[in-house]
Amino acid sequence: MSLHKKITIISNPNIAIIKYWGKENIEENICSNQSISFQLTKLTTTTSISFSKDGDEFIFNGDKCKLNNKIKFIIELFKETVKNNQPIRIESINNFPHSCGIASSASGFSALVKALDKFYGTNFSEQDLSILARRCSGSASRSIPCDIVLCNKISSRSIDKWEEIKIFLINLDGTPKKVSSTEGMCRTQETSFFYKERLTRIDDKIELCIEYIKSKDHQSLFKMIMRESNEIHSIMFESYPPIRYINDKGFEVMEIVHEINKNEIKVAYSFDAGTNPFIFVLKKDIEEVLKNFKDYNIIECN
Ligand code: DP6
Repeated sequence: MSLHKKITIISNPNIAIIKYWGKENIEENICSNQSISFQLTKLTTTTSISFSKDGDEFIFNGDKCKLNNKIKFIIELFKETVKNNQPIRIESINNFPHSCGIASSASGFSALVKALDKFYGTNFSEQDLSILARRCSGSASRSIPCDIVLCNKISSRSIDKWEEIKIFLINLDGTPKKVSSTEGMCRTQETSFFYKERLTRIDDKIELCIEYIKSKDHQSLFKMIMRESNEIHSIMFESYPPIRYINDKGFEVMEIVHEINKNEIKVAYSFDAGTNPFIFVLKKDIEEVLKNFKDYNIIECN
């Protein structure tokens, strides 16, 4: 392989509408439930890989960073597969602000896995890449395929597309979250009573969600998206000690949404493990809906 070779790929974060929360197997990072997401195509992580002379290096948004265990694990896996131990330089740039509530681990790890596959010419299938990305971060698995994606706890595949749906992030707060999603989900699994009940219903919910997507029933889907977000955050709060990501400004956004939806559901919110809500709206309703959020800092996501 030429020492001057450099490859570049692009990946996106995603927003889960049915959320992954909990691990069936911590060692292999197998998710405890299926999840469904939309790709946030306007937000990108651009990752380049070349050979390095100074050991493996990771440069993120221009700064040299320490390689964490997950990054080391995935690099080693590729090096062993191709039997080439030469050090590499990974450069990654996000076009969205750090810690603004956009899951940078999903786009970061999916980009890394895609970039390593291209650099080493391993030609793994989409399914295998989604498994490798999941080993690093559950949500990253869903950033390997395009459009609307289902993760079956182990691997991910595209199930549909819905171009009429636009997604925006309402950037309320840039402070980093106090409880990481990994830590939060482990605490929930260990302590929450409500969580166990959720797992008994989740496969039916996934099935119904797919039906709403296939029949393009946006009102039923939007209602489900909001109720799923409320359910997961209620379960987090019922964990012990309680986990709370949504703050007063977030509750304000929820109230505005329910006010807009008084007569007809036109918009949905969804909070991940962070303070900033994503809102979902049909293209035809954007103007009408966004005029209610003129005082907010809004980022267009797809
Ligand atoms: C609330 O994928 O960040 O965003 O597998 O431990 O890295 P790890 O967790 P991560 O968790 C995502 C949690 C979520 C829901 C979701 O994206 O499905």
